[in-house]
Amino acid sequence: MTVLSWKAPSWSFLAFWLLWSLASARTPPAAAVASAHPAATEAGMEILRAGGNAFDAAVAVSAALAVVEPYSSGLGGGGFWLLHRASDGRQVMIDGRERAPLAAQREMYLDEKGEVVPGLSIDGPLAAGIPGEPAALAHIARRYGRLPLARSLAPAIRLAREGFEVDAHYRRMARFRLGVLRRHASTRGIFLKEGEVPPLGWRIRQPGLARTLEQLAEKGREGFYAGPVARKLVNSVRRHGGIWTLEDLKAYRVVEREPIVGRYRGYRVVTAAPPSSGGVVLVEMLNMLAQKQLARLSEADHIHFMIEVMRRAYFDRARYLGDPDQVEMPLQKLLSEEHARRWVAGIHMDRATSSAALDFPKREGQDTTHFSIIDREGNRVAATLSINYPFGSGFVAEGTGVLLNDEMDDFSAKPGAANVYGLVGNEANAIAPGRRMLSSMTPTFVEHPEGVAILGTPGGSRIITMVLLGLLEFIEGHGPSDWVSRKRFHHQYLPDQVQFEPGAFSSRVRRRLEEKGHVLKPLERPYGNMQAVFWDRKGNRVEAASDPRGIGLASVLPENIQPR
Ligand code: DON
Repeated sequence: MTVLSWKAPSWSFLAFWLLWSLASARTPPAAAVASAHPAATEAGMEILRAGGNAFDAAVAVSAALAVVEPYSSGLGGGGFWLLHRASDGRQVMIDGRERAPLAAQREMYLDEKGEVVPGLSIDGPLAAGIPGEPAALAHIARRYGRLPLARSLAPAIRLAREGFEVDAHYRRMARFRLGVLRRHASTRGIFLKEGEVPPLGWRIRQPGLARTLEQLAEKGREGFYAGPVARKLVNSVRRHGGIWTLEDLKAYRVVEREPIVGRYRGYRVVTAAPPSSGGVVLVEMLNMLAQKQLARLSEADHIHFMIEVMRRAYFDRARYLGDPDQVEMPLQKLLSEEHARRWVAGIHMDRATSSAALDFPKREGQDTTHFSIIDREGNRVAATLSINYPFGSGFVAEGTGVLLNDEMDDFSAKPGAANVYGLVGNEANAIAPGRRMLSSMTPTFVEHPEGVAILGTPGGSRIITMVLLGLLEFIEGHGPSDWVSRKRFHHQYLPDQVQFEPGAFSSRVRRRLEEKGHVLKPLERPYGNMQAVFWDRKGNRVEAASDPRGIGLASVLPENIQPR
């Protein structure tokens, strides 16, 4: 774990904290859950009503999402749970990220000519990292929860057994991955109807997954990582060309990591630490934005500056970031004001920088989910969970109901080769036995004496810029429905283009950006699925919002408090 050096705090920072601690005696007037699926939000509310805290609710929501959003996250995947414990102010990131199997090899996705074999790191059991979510749920329940794990898993077990109804979103996702869903009988039998995308209203029942969840409920992590479930997982993976061993499962450990903390215009930003790149890239972008008087810029210049900031932070992502347990990262330098100042000095306001001109050393030594929760004591959770691509690897380990991830694609298969999100990487994110693959997931708290925001979203490489845009909406004084619905744009260093949602830029702004030399890539569809909670300390209210692009639900308890 990286420890950043200590610097004497400024007077304004001390004043901030004095205000903060005076205000922090208060607790929220309501609890809230925002998640990407109504059944998962309801599972969280059920656990809060039963006397559980935000951490118990997080276990319930994660497990329910594993059942009703099989295309996004699950027991066969992993994620990051950012926690704030009100009683002592402890803030920690639970790292339940997948790890490469111990038999993984650096060039396992390349052919004899050294070229990346398409699909190998995306479809089937060879694409699957060792799951972290079951261990993380057991850990959160034991260390931070108030209720037994079995109680918090009960709603998910019920949903798996009774089934959930196919909706239009499920059908879209299943159509997108139909080829791979058809490939294995164990997957086909659960997620398709006679080999086709099921009709609206069809019930997806998962008795196998219910039994696996029961094993977890009964035995804790041992119910998944040892005994019959572990044996079935390994046998099935190996039978279909994968490389997992029982040792991989036994060796898996959750890691508690210190979150990345940044400051921007009087706000404290608490966010994901490596092996997610999210927090480092987010704080780097904020540090660069802080160098400029943004209010003085025209709209086109403001957007141009943000694009240049995104380009540079994503360059550092590709260049430096990886698993903190295995690679050295210059985090202190990357997060410093000096580094931001140096980057900003190279930004021309009249023209786009070419990404190719940034010196990237080639050699040197849809889908995912997010939820946000607050309880009446002020405990908070921001969690982003993933099995990577929609329906992960498309492979259900026989006899377990567990759909495995294809998170191995988040590694850099070879330096400079783009992954499924177009991201490039370097030695720091090369495949190595037991290594955690670099993520973009960015669960985040934004804290100020007047209010606290809890937010995050899925969206692959675009997660970090979405969190940036949502966070800036909060800082501009807008409410959570604006954070989640704001039109989005994105630059990730390579490919060297500005992606943007329909309606994100006026034609005037587009023209101005093109004049400066930006390559614009209009997207046909909106992207992201942000889930946000706002504790307005000044107004003594709690609000929650779910991205209108998705089918999620934000609920506040007591339910009579309506969002503004
Ligand atoms: O960890 C990551 O960065 C990716 N596996 C996240 C994938 C994702 O968000 C897909 N969602 N649309």
